[in-house]
Amino acid sequence: MRILFVGDIFGKPGRDIAKRAIPALIQRDGIDFVIANVENAAAGFGITGEIAEAILGYGVDVMTTGNHVWDKKEILDYIPRQPKLLRPANFPSGAPGRGSCIGRTRTGEPVGVLNLMGRIFMTPLDDPFAVALREVENLRAQARVVFVDFHAEATSEKVAMGWHLDGRATAVSGTHTHVQTADERLLPKGTALLTDAGMTGPHDSIIGVDVEAALGRFVTAMPAKFDSAVGGARLNAIVVTADPRTGRATAIERLNLSAADVEALAESQAATSRLSECPTSSRSHSRKTTRIDARRRHGPKRARAHRQRADGRNPPDVRDPDLATSGSRVRSPTARSGTRATPTSR
Ligand code: FE2
Repeated sequence: MRILFVGDIFGKPGRDIAKRAIPALIQRDGIDFVIANVENAAAGFGITGEIAEAILGYGVDVMTTGNHVWDKKEILDYIPRQPKLLRPANFPSGAPGRGSCIGRTRTGEPVGVLNLMGRIFMTPLDDPFAVALREVENLRAQARVVFVDFHAEATSEKVAMGWHLDGRATAVSGTHTHVQTADERLLPKGTALLTDAGMTGPHDSIIGVDVEAALGRFVTAMPAKFDSAVGGARLNAIVVTADPRTGRATAIERLNLSAADVEALAESQAATSRLSECPTSSRSHSRKTTRIDARRRHGPKRARAHRQRADGRNPPDVRDPDLATSGSRVRSPTARSGTRATPTSR
């Protein structure tokens, strides 16, 4: 099972690049389930029902949030009616909405999703470590695969949560700082961990906010109106591969794609779709044949890799050079090609 988790979608630039990238990544990488943090999707502050519905339309299955969840007051009416929109589970009892849910992949397999918020340099909510144990246990009764978005400021608190849930959750990814960290790894008992997934939004900014306004506040210590920046859109995300029988993660890949990367990806996937829809195409015919033969010879997993090579797309272990500089991948020691980390981001 492959889960795409999209880091904080910020304002319209974030929504635009997410809308373009998510369907293409679902197609290219065989994504089964998509989660996105959306707490800054409405002009950088909060989320509205209308925007949440639009994001679900991109192919997102469950949305998580954090400290900005209540910024747009209309969400108070929407969140109780939308089980796919989570707020941190460690809000005091009585807060509207819910902090966890069970989603379903496109083939009907259950996936647990839990949203938590840290307490260091944040509003002190209930103990996230105690809530995590209780919620993960509840989710594991219904789903082997459980994904946790831990929305927190301090790296130490996020790494601690990863170890706290090692062997209990499939993956723990931090959000909130809007700066992607390069520490993705698989913990010993099978939990994938990344300190922060980063921001899907305008990177020519100070964590999403217009540079002049945010810098001015630092320099003058005077109040300033914060507007969403517009330039340098990037998609920050991770792809976690999990064994649905055990719930253990077997790989984690970090993505940091520019608008140009996303455009090239979307166009290549559209071209692939057009070719596959053309029954008279000789290439389409040969690819179809190749798929059948590969599946017979190697089983569905290796067949998919074979199919990607036949399509001229990125096979799992030989990525397009342009995209290879925009992401990295860590595999389980038990995975076919051994542990591998290829740092970096542009
Ligand atoms: Fe936040």
